[in-house]
Amino acid sequence: MDGVTDHPYRHIQKKYGNPAIVYTEFASVEGICRGATQLLKDFLYDEFQRPIVAQIYGTTAKFFYQTAVLICELGFDGIDINMGCPAKNVAHSGAGAALIKTPELAQEIIRQTQAGVTDWLQGIEITDLPDISPQIAKIVQARHDQLPSMYQKKRAIPVSVKTRVGYDMPVIEEWIPRLLELEPSCIALHGRTLRQQYSGLADWERIGKAALLAAGSATIVLGNGDIDSLETANKRIADYKLDGVLIGRGSMGNPHIFKAPDQNDPSLFSIALEHARLFEQTYQHNERYAFLPMRKNLGWYVRSISNAKEVRSELFQTETSLAVQAILEKHHLL
Ligand SMILES: Cc1cc2nc3c(=O)[nH]c(=O)nc-3n(C[C@H](O)[C@H](O)[C@H](O)COP(=O)(O)O)c2cc1C
Repeated sequence: MDGVTDHPYRHIQKKYGNPAIVYTEFASVEGICRGATQLLKDFLYDEFQRPIVAQIYGTTAKFFYQTAVLICELGFDGIDINMGCPAKNVAHSGAGAALIKTPELAQEIIRQTQAGVTDWLQGIEITDLPDISPQIAKIVQARHDQLPSMYQKKRAIPVSVKTRVGYDMPVIEEWIPRLLELEPSCIALHGRTLRQQYSGLADWERIGKAALLAAGSATIVLGNGDIDSLETANKRIADYKLDGVLIGRGSMGNPHIFKAPDQNDPSLFSIALEHARLFEQTYQHNERYAFLPMRKNLGWYVRSISNAKEVRSELFQTETSLAVQAILEKHHLL
């Protein structure tokens, strides 16, 4: 999730919930191929987070090809193409969920991403790519050199798609077969249309239909939308014969959602403090460092306590993990 599932967030989720797979925030292929080095921040991860999938979006097929090579070089375990984002700044350019309206372009984007992986396996190098700036190539090569040796080796990584059930109305029967023609390794389907944004409820009947359309193909289907517990996740998987589900908002301030409850689980407040410390360690040396993006997480961690409003308003003033600790201690949460 953009603005949410950054490197510290994923690390904490993995440590305390152990989801089977995590995705990065999405990064624009146009941005990367036009030299926006700051976007490489979205592709920071540590070995602990594997398997980890890099998610990308855009409209320019040749940039997907080049970014696929870059992602392979960074050692990711998969590449996911976002065809589900409804945000105006994304969909108005024809990217994200707007690609549902241009299936030929969507197919070409998948094809070029797959070709990037294949050509990387066959020896194309990041310095061969016309739109990857020398500065970005240098950063990518440095990160590649830091990878454990098994991830420096070439290996075929899967290309998947995350999408919605339609643009202004559900079009599963037309849209899913168009995707299946390109044999993506996985289709993750959010059960809302672009027009719905996040309103109403995800339509799991349609997600189930998509799973039927993919049955017998090599593509797995993951359902997505409104999962609020492990029980709901398991029920959806069983009811709609899915290969799995993705959990987004339900994980905010609640990494335990991915696993069965255990009385030895640490409290959400101690996790909040650990998250704040990790956020600080990860980014504090950056030129444009700010603690601000961490604060929303703090609000999520304390939302179920009786004086949540008061504690949250104090946490929203913090600039350091030390200040977070002092507030949590003051309210006897640590
Ligand atoms: C703040 C926010 C940012 C999101 N960013 C992304 C994104 O970058 N890529 C993506 O595939 N989906 C993104 N989504 C959509 C979620 O991945 C998910 O499809 C949607 O929230 C429904 O699932 P949920 O009910 O489990 O949250 C975002 C959602 C939210 C709320």
